Amino acid sequence: MNVFDFRKMKSAGRRISMTTCYDYWSARILDQTPIDALIVGDSAAMVMHGHESTLPATPDMLAIHTQAVARGAHNKFIIADMPFLSFRKGLGPAIDCVQQLVRAGANAVKLEGVGGHDDVVKHIVQSGVPVMGHLGLTPQAVNSLGGFKVQGVGAEAAADLVEAAQRLEAVGCFSLVLEAVPTKTAQQITENVQIPTIGIGAGPHCDGQVLVLHDLAGFNRDFKARFVRMFEDGHGLLTRAVEEFDRTVKNGSFPSEAESYE
Ligand code: KIV
Repeated sequence: MNVFDFRKMKSAGRRISMTTCYDYWSARILDQTPIDALIVGDSAAMVMHGHESTLPATPDMLAIHTQAVARGAHNKFIIADMPFLSFRKGLGPAIDCVQQLVRAGANAVKLEGVGGHDDVVKHIVQSGVPVMGHLGLTPQAVNSLGGFKVQGVGAEAAADLVEAAQRLEAVGCFSLVLEAVPTKTAQQITENVQIPTIGIGAGPHCDGQVLVLHDLAGFNRDFKARFVRMFEDGHGLLTRAVEEFDRTVKNGSFPSEAESYE
């Protein structure tokens, strides 16, 4: 997969699958799957570090996660998130962050929202780094949005999102994440841009779908969003493995002779 394949897949009507990835061992596993691309999302701040929002993510945090993912996934297109405010301090600091993420192993960067981003997106694209946009629920703006709420509801809000998507396409984004928007709005956006839309809580008409790895694998039992499907009971699998280890340690059946040195 490379940056041109995103548009090719949309033109061919082939759906794009993506998931988040934050560390070396899961990157090694995902590298052996058919998933099309990996996102080192700023959701790492919540999933891996236990924060309440993505706001505490920093360029250093995402660079460390990106390095680990790049060491494990040699065959995947890796997109790293530009964290909170990292692209709002002028072109210099924005490019410093891009440089850090690309040196860490990212093939592209993602940034949230559209207002006032034209110059920074153009500058990153012209610097040779593909940019993915992110519209709808943009978690870095959680305080302005009044919480993690569905966006683009109603004709006027939907039209605004279509316009925002077209603007991001015009400034050079190669694809767009649409998060928590009604199915109809996501469909309208998808039909009105040439670049692929990747939905998360945006219904079935997007050109692709992304879910947080820990949600889709069932490691995050407490998170019950409508758009999440748990494809495995990761929490149960890990719990059972550790319970069995604990049981066999305590009853003396681990380690066996075969598991010990003579
Ligand atoms: O931070 C993140 O993980 C994301 C993806 C869910 C798209 O933005």
